[in-house]
Amino acid sequence: MSQTFNALQMAEDHIIDLDSKLLKRKLRSTKSACDTKVTIDDRQLKAFCSNDYLGLANHPSLVEALAEGAQKYGVGSGASHLISGHSIAHDLLEKKLASFQSQHIPNVRALFFSTGYLANMAAITGLARLAASGDVSIYSATLNHASLIDGIRLASAQTKATVAIFDHQNLDALDAMLDQDRRSLKMIVLDGVFSMDGDIAPVSKLIEIANQHDALLSIDDAHGFGALGQHGHGILEQFNVHSERIIYIGTLGKAAGVSGAFVCATAPFIEWLIQKGRPYIYSTATPPAIAHTVLKSLELIEGPEGIRRRQQLNQLITVWHQEMHFSHWEKIPSCTAIQPIILGSNANALAAAKLLDEAGYWIPAIRPPTVPVGSARLRVTFSANHRIEDLSELIHTLNVIEQKVSKDSQS
Ligand SMILES: Cc1ncc(COP(=O)(O)O)c(C=O)c1O
Repeated sequence: MSQTFNALQMAEDHIIDLDSKLLKRKLRSTKSACDTKVTIDDRQLKAFCSNDYLGLANHPSLVEALAEGAQKYGVGSGASHLISGHSIAHDLLEKKLASFQSQHIPNVRALFFSTGYLANMAAITGLARLAASGDVSIYSATLNHASLIDGIRLASAQTKATVAIFDHQNLDALDAMLDQDRRSLKMIVLDGVFSMDGDIAPVSKLIEIANQHDALLSIDDAHGFGALGQHGHGILEQFNVHSERIIYIGTLGKAAGVSGAFVCATAPFIEWLIQKGRPYIYSTATPPAIAHTVLKSLELIEGPEGIRRRQQLNQLITVWHQEMHFSHWEKIPSCTAIQPIILGSNANALAAAKLLDEAGYWIPAIRPPTVPVGSARLRVTFSANHRIEDLSELIHTLNVIEQKVSKDSQS
């Protein structure tokens, strides 16, 4: 038996090991559009688990815009942006995305990517490569999303950057670490809304710290863009902050309901990413029809419909707080559409998800390494398409199944 075959055989052993630790994940295929009710295995389930916060993923105007975009531009871009894949639809979208952050970042420009994962890789490695090798420090928040962590790992491998971890709830520690730092490029990298906890980064204080220590601040607003701020422009609008130190990353497959992502920053940095950002340069451009659809989504987000949808979302969050206040489920305080219920062990999280499934709900168990060991959870999320009655029914079901799941904080 050859070495290669043996190595591939080990994959099966690893899977068996994952399964024995209750960490094996399962794909489930939907037969319907992303919405508050989905069809899986010929059953209809009420979904409280997507990131489609504004309920736009199946919006008729966006379905129409995608068809219109395909009629106009075809279905593929054919090449990377710098070869022949860049279209006027990408240009129009980037201008609009930049306009969303123009009050918050001076001389702002936007760059569109096919995914948030790629946008983070490009932004973080692009920043680190601005300074000489070994002269970069990266400060990463404890609960950062995997795409930030992987971007930091790659940046560190490429530039010998030093990486330090900080707790975003305890910025004094970050401040103290920066105080000792004599490297010329210091970058603070974190989620705007933490994807598995739902809490919001203290952006104003972070900008203060960045100013004080001459650091840059890279904020991934994947879960805030579209949902936060009066016009849905995201976390910078919500806190009314302004700084040339901000590198803002937003994704377009969550509240915007479509697909893709972008980086917004002062124009020279964006030009640097176009010239030297490998994840941008060496990847096929997103189909222009998608850019055309996102443009329509931005129109909805910013306009009266977006405002109405954010109001509905906020109402759902209020009702959740009111009606779950007396329940014994362990909740993480969150004022966003992400409301985690901590079960502790993988077994308990899986048991709760199964009971919910039997009751007609789709809320999968989230386990390590997505969340820290011992904090497996149900990640309940809301969409503006949920009605208040839908939420009250879910809360009633949660109260019924609470008795059946014994909480165990040990994994
Ligand atoms: C905080 C955060 N950043 C980035 C991403 C990646 O974005 P995308 O799905 O567009 O790759 C996600 C989730 O998907 C996320 O939760």
